[in-house]
Amino acid sequence: MKKEDDVKGEELVDLNGDGTEKKEEKKEEESKKSNGALKYIMIPLLCLIAIGGILYTVKIYKKINQIELIVCKDYDEMSARAAKIISDLIKENPRCNLGLATGSTPLGLYNILIEQNKRKEISFKDVKTFNLDEYCGIPRNHEQTYFTYMKEHLFKFIDVDLANTNIPKGEGDLESNVRNYEEILKKNKINLQILGIGRNGHIGFNEPGTNFDMGVHIVDLQNKTIQDNARFFDYDINKVPKKAITMGIKNILDADNIILMANGTNKADAIKNVMSGVVDINIPATALNTHKGKVYVIVDKDSASKL
Ligand code: PGA
Repeated sequence: MKKEDDVKGEELVDLNGDGTEKKEEKKEEESKKSNGALKYIMIPLLCLIAIGGILYTVKIYKKINQIELIVCKDYDEMSARAAKIISDLIKENPRCNLGLATGSTPLGLYNILIEQNKRKEISFKDVKTFNLDEYCGIPRNHEQTYFTYMKEHLFKFIDVDLANTNIPKGEGDLESNVRNYEEILKKNKINLQILGIGRNGHIGFNEPGTNFDMGVHIVDLQNKTIQDNARFFDYDINKVPKKAITMGIKNILDADNIILMANGTNKADAIKNVMSGVVDINIPATALNTHKGKVYVIVDKDSASKL
């Protein structure tokens, strides 16, 4: 038996008689069909766009992030791995431009290069060197300048032509020193830049918050860095220079390839941040994640302990 409502419905159809209701039903059916078809096209299309987006992002990330992590058992192995990359470069291109760093980290590396030079395995005769930074406000021949450091720990033991060694000047007219060093770097592309890293992630004297687009500039050193450096100034904070002249991150990133070295647990956080892939102005070394060439991060197992 038909219910009253059903009958009314049928009556309505009959009442229209002119087919209007059927047309409306047809329209509804057609729109349902086209909605269905849209769903079949749109959902796979959206999925494809999403997958494409993910693949594209991964590709871009891979392209930018060229870091090769080398974890070594100790400081000596870290130094040897870095020395091998440098000596291979010098053998391949005896006229190469090397970016050099100071501090305790590269001392072992410099000792190996000195030995290789003594054994005539490599020659620095035609190599040009460019240091990252220098203290301001102490005379060039002060025992703690980076000028003195380079002489005492590397240059006086190898066959480099001192005229080919470049270290920014921290005395005299600082603004003109900045311009001069920038000019020198513009004329000489660095093939391989060696870097140490500060506990706060600084590279050169680029302290946290330094704009990544900056070239050579004068910096006010942060307290953490001043404290770390006090060991070289009779542990007297007052004797530690408070300003420095440094290559900017832009200059560092202009190098074809980069080696960042770190040893000891006090660098573990900084290395963890670099290797996380973030790019953060407050951790200067994370700028390496945007470098377009090869970046080697060579660390001992203590510096790798938080990875
Ligand atoms: P360090 O310094 O090699 O003496 O640890 C590194 C740096 O501060 O860049």
